[in-house]
Amino acid sequence: MADAGLLRGVTEGSERRWARVVAGVVALVVAVMIYSGLHWSAIAPANVQAIDAATLHLKGEFMEANLGTAMQPDRSAVVRVIAQQYAFVPRCIVVPANTPVTFRLTSPDVVHGFLIAGTNVNSMVLPGYVAEVRTRFDTPGEHLMPCHEYCSVGHEGMWARVKVLDRLEFDRLHGNQERASCAG
Ligand code: CUA
Repeated sequence: MADAGLLRGVTEGSERRWARVVAGVVALVVAVMIYSGLHWSAIAPANVQAIDAATLHLKGEFMEANLGTAMQPDRSAVVRVIAQQYAFVPRCIVVPANTPVTFRLTSPDVVHGFLIAGTNVNSMVLPGYVAEVRTRFDTPGEHLMPCHEYCSVGHEGMWARVKVLDRLEFDRLHGNQERASCAG
């Protein structure tokens, strides 16, 4: 029966063809993964700016005197926070409601994360970069702000509070301060 041999030859031929197709697809997927991995490790996410992690305590916008909430001439707020093992500085952040608020965070040590419970504020904080998130709180209240990137043994205890005050109350309590925070 010559036909059986012929059939087997045809089957083996198509199996080899399929094997080549599958190998090609796998190679393509691996190539895309390698390319995108290298690409994303070479460029930082869009919402960050570079900063020297070694000197950020000593000079520039993240010196201790500059941390906390700074009201701007246009009546918006900028909140500067350092995320470090294992605390946010300041630990308690106070902001006015119904006001544009820009959070600027950086880390002197390892990768941290911050999110503000009950809002869509959520960002990674990488050493060497400033993470910037803009938001607005519609109502007064208090939010937890935990670190959500595992940053070693003290990670579980790393969190801050965000107190949102009525705008008038904020102005009454903190209106004459250059930097406001509720950290005691
Ligand atoms: Cu910082 Cu987890």
